[in-house]
Amino acid sequence: MSSRAPWVAHFGFTQTPFRKTIPASQLCERASHQEAVARIRFCIAESLLGVLVGEVGVGKTVALRAATSQLDPAAHHVIYVSNPAFGTRGLYVTIVHALGATPSTRKAELMAQTQALLAAEEQERRRRVVLLVDEAHLLSPEQLEELRLLTNAEMDSASPFALLLVGQPTLARQLRMGVFAALDQRIATRYQLAPMDLAEAATYLRHHLGLVGRTDPLFADDAIARLHKASLGLPRALNNAAVAALIAAASAGKALVDDDCAKKAVAELTRD
Ligand SMILES: Nc1ncnc2c1ncn2[C@@H]1O[C@H](COP(=O)(O)OP(=O)(O)OP(=O)(O)O)[C@@H](O)[C@H]1O
Ligand SMILES: [Mg+2]
Repeated sequence: MSSRAPWVAHFGFTQTPFRKTIPASQLCERASHQEAVARIRFCIAESLLGVLVGEVGVGKTVALRAATSQLDPAAHHVIYVSNPAFGTRGLYVTIVHALGATPSTRKAELMAQTQALLAAEEQERRRRVVLLVDEAHLLSPEQLEELRLLTNAEMDSASPFALLLVGQPTLARQLRMGVFAALDQRIATRYQLAPMDLAEAATYLRHHLGLVGRTDPLFADDAIARLHKASLGLPRALNNAAVAALIAAASAGKALVDDDCAKKAVAELTRD
């Protein structure tokens, strides 16, 4: 066990607040997050194609994690691609590997192999493949075409897998314009995860502080407003701003984060 940092001890937190490794069961259930999670779950349950977009740090990967954390592993095979920027062969190779086979070295065969494995997983092992492609705005047109071919494999029958494309807002445009336009109608759900409004940011701060043992208000209202504005309502930016403000308050010996501390934090984070 590492000892607590002075500012963590100053506020009597049980551990460092605003950590990245927050378990899915302890997430802040704000409305947009819950809507995103519900849509992802729907796509998985029905083997559909879904698209989730949002700004950097808005909580897309967290929503994916929340939606998949409770899936029954006996009935689902989740394949998570954290970054698809690995060349054209990469997607099929990743899927084949994940399904426990050795990828064919011949490109022409690789696609058929991938399709066969996906179908076998569903039909023989009764496990639904859930393909999650994070950072999907980085998909090249060739990779989008590969995905299109895979999803198209059995147009008339039920889709052999659920596919979630998650990425920055440019993804929505890429899908509408490129080869994927042919599949546009098959996107069962598309959702843009929204940043937090001021009230949500206040709840979010309270939630995170509650997780480390402080349920009383530590941030003054004007400090919250300043941090919310500076973070644009994006959780990752708000985490950083909140920690900087807590450190500023602790080093000034203050029991509360007032607007002065928030100002210092914002100045610190926006400095070049
Ligand atoms: N619902 C939530 N509850 C608690 N913390 C959250 C929540 N949503 C986001 N966060 C916090 O915000 C951070 C950023 O979220 P996440 O990594 O999901 O963003 P992202 O949209 O995937 O960003 P990027 O575009 O960089 O991949 C998380 O590490 C977590 O600390
Ligand atoms: Mg992410």
